[in-house]
Amino acid sequence: MAVIIDGKEISNKVLDELKVEVDKLKGKGITPCLAVVLVGSDTASCIYVKNKQKACEKIGIESKEYLLPEETTEQELLDLIDKLNNDENVDGILLQSPIPRHLDILKAFNKIIPEKDVDGFNPINAGLLSMGFPVFIPCTPQGIMRMFKEHNIEIEGKRCTVIGRSNIVGKPMAQLLINKGGTVTVCNSKTQNLKEILLASDIVISAVGKPKIITDDMIKQNSVVIDVGINRNEQGKICGDVDFENVKDIAGYITPVPGGVGPMTIAMLMNNIILACKNRRK
Ligand code: GUN
Repeated sequence: MAVIIDGKEISNKVLDELKVEVDKLKGKGITPCLAVVLVGSDTASCIYVKNKQKACEKIGIESKEYLLPEETTEQELLDLIDKLNNDENVDGILLQSPIPRHLDILKAFNKIIPEKDVDGFNPINAGLLSMGFPVFIPCTPQGIMRMFKEHNIEIEGKRCTVIGRSNIVGKPMAQLLINKGGTVTVCNSKTQNLKEILLASDIVISAVGKPKIITDDMIKQNSVVIDVGINRNEQGKICGDVDFENVKDIAGYITPVPGGVGPMTIAMLMNNIILACKNRRK
């Protein structure tokens, strides 16, 4: 039976540490501030944004919300980002993705100045990470690395497989593992010999978004299985990509959904906001 990596517990520990940092800043008259921009009313995005704001409130970070209608023009979005870039009181800018299809996500992320890019999605920050000199590390992969650290899980020399190639999770995750000396394979939903690759992997990170596509026959004994998926099963319950009940008997470590990677993502966003605040206002 695998060790269950408790993301809720680790994230609470991280948030307690970060609250101490926020209190120190407040002692100097500085309140870190996040600006959240949400375009349209995607249900999942609304829930994520609320959870991010709740975490801010919990540790004393100010958060400002900018809710833009679905029909917002590119210029209106870029103008708002420009205004937030120039607002002295704003330390971090988060543009929740996805944004409506008529808007250019690259232009928008490019517009956020790197110093306030707490998601790490601006091409400058993405480039620094790929070169091994990260400043703002995307929150989900950063949270997963923190889980490894808490459990003393070594990356160097290990065969690591990331399933998913998104700019938000898959690519930055692979780069962090490469930077730590892992032997990294990046798969996607079309990969043909996925089972063969997974059976040879010491660490598996799934960010596909399909319930139970990772089954116990695909996993090596005692390997580390990290589930980034947030899906709904036939009963409408939240579940991950991994068939948790069966895989937990094979793996050495496993993350649950919910209560695994999700809370870590939010804790790492708080970490990035405080980092941005300290860097900007030193
Ligand atoms: N959409 C899904 N995950 C994320 C995230 O971590 N940040 C932002 N901005 N959008 C997302």
